[in-house]
Amino acid sequence: MFDLIIRGGTLPDGTVTDIGIRGDRIAAVEDLSAAEASDVIDAVGDLVSPPFVDPHFHMDATLSYGTPRVNASGTLLEGIGLWGELRDLASTDALIDRALSYCDWAVSMGLLTIRSHVDTTPDHLRGVEAMLEVKRRVAPYLDLQLVAFPQDGLLRTPTGLENVTRALDMGVDVVGGIPHFERTMADGAESVRILCEMAADRGLPVDMHCDETDDPLSRHIETLAAETTRLGLQGRVAGSHLTSMHSMDNYYVSKLLPLMAEAQIAAIPNPLINIVLQGRHDSYPKRRGLTRVREMLAAGIEVGWGQDCVLDPWYSLGTADMLDVAFMGLHVAQMTHPTEMARCFDMVTGANARILGLTDYGLQPGRLASLVVLDAATPTEALRLRPARLAVVSKGRVVSRQARGTGELTLPGRPSQVSRRHQASGDKG
Ligand code: FE2
Repeated sequence: MFDLIIRGGTLPDGTVTDIGIRGDRIAAVEDLSAAEASDVIDAVGDLVSPPFVDPHFHMDATLSYGTPRVNASGTLLEGIGLWGELRDLASTDALIDRALSYCDWAVSMGLLTIRSHVDTTPDHLRGVEAMLEVKRRVAPYLDLQLVAFPQDGLLRTPTGLENVTRALDMGVDVVGGIPHFERTMADGAESVRILCEMAADRGLPVDMHCDETDDPLSRHIETLAAETTRLGLQGRVAGSHLTSMHSMDNYYVSKLLPLMAEAQIAAIPNPLINIVLQGRHDSYPKRRGLTRVREMLAAGIEVGWGQDCVLDPWYSLGTADMLDVAFMGLHVAQMTHPTEMARCFDMVTGANARILGLTDYGLQPGRLASLVVLDAATPTEALRLRPARLAVVSKGRVVSRQARGTGELTLPGRPSQVSRRHQASGDKG
């Protein structure tokens, strides 16, 4: 007897199976046609995946688009300036309300773990206080990791270092940084050294905004790799964005990638944001700004797609759908081979779970019973259609249901009904 059975779904690797759940655990992944359950979800013909994971987000800024005004230049720097005004205007309650709304969106999309940076620049630390409260409230259905993020610079602001320390003392999980925004390249390198030592002392992971520019000489990822190795932090460090790598000299990159692999640094590009923020100073040709994803994967570096922003001072769109993120990443990185498209799906599920150190993740017996049922047959079809999340199960509980999308087409001599499902590639009815 199970509490819940997901019947007949197709796993990302193509296996067709039932999944039996008891309490908050996956109890069986096998043919359960003779078994009974209190609740059954029919997933025949549907993709059943471990939940989506977002390794890079800004939940303190989300759903604030247009407040106090829109980002007219579309640049990273104007976005930072706008956020600098907004973070002192927003009350703790307003920050909590916006973040909880975003978490609702995330759950409905099957996104059940999010690593969010939280700005530690203002001395009031209202954002940190608010995000810790949000983390506590959503914990029954969504796991939130928080990164202490000195948005205006660790050394560039008088209380930068003190406030990162305070945030970590309050319970923030990960050490963040922004070396390319410090006053000088030397200060940037010094900030990386200080923050990595802080992480080593406290036994915490590191996730830095690193080289988020078009400057081919912004090379803080090199320092981050060197500090990771020096301090024995291998496997605990991520570099987010790394957009300058797009513009670096090829010979230099041929030296850099093995250093990153040796340090076991993970890379978190954020394609929706990178493609709109980078290249803004270019005429034509305009650089894409996305880091070198295929080359890093070939070098054995773990790479996962991040969302970064939804409706905030940096990005005017977004839906909490990690399939949108992977879809954009696939295009900009030109990862169109079938194996690369399958990899892109993994880069919003399994790879991100590894980057975030989620040891209880995956559709194996004994693991946490969290999954998403998609109206698609395969991971590649899910990327193409970005279809309805028919059911989302979090920690054994069904937390979201959605009907299959339908629409009516009334053409003479043609089928009278069409849905996204009928745009499937033919391997299901
Ligand atoms: Fe970010």
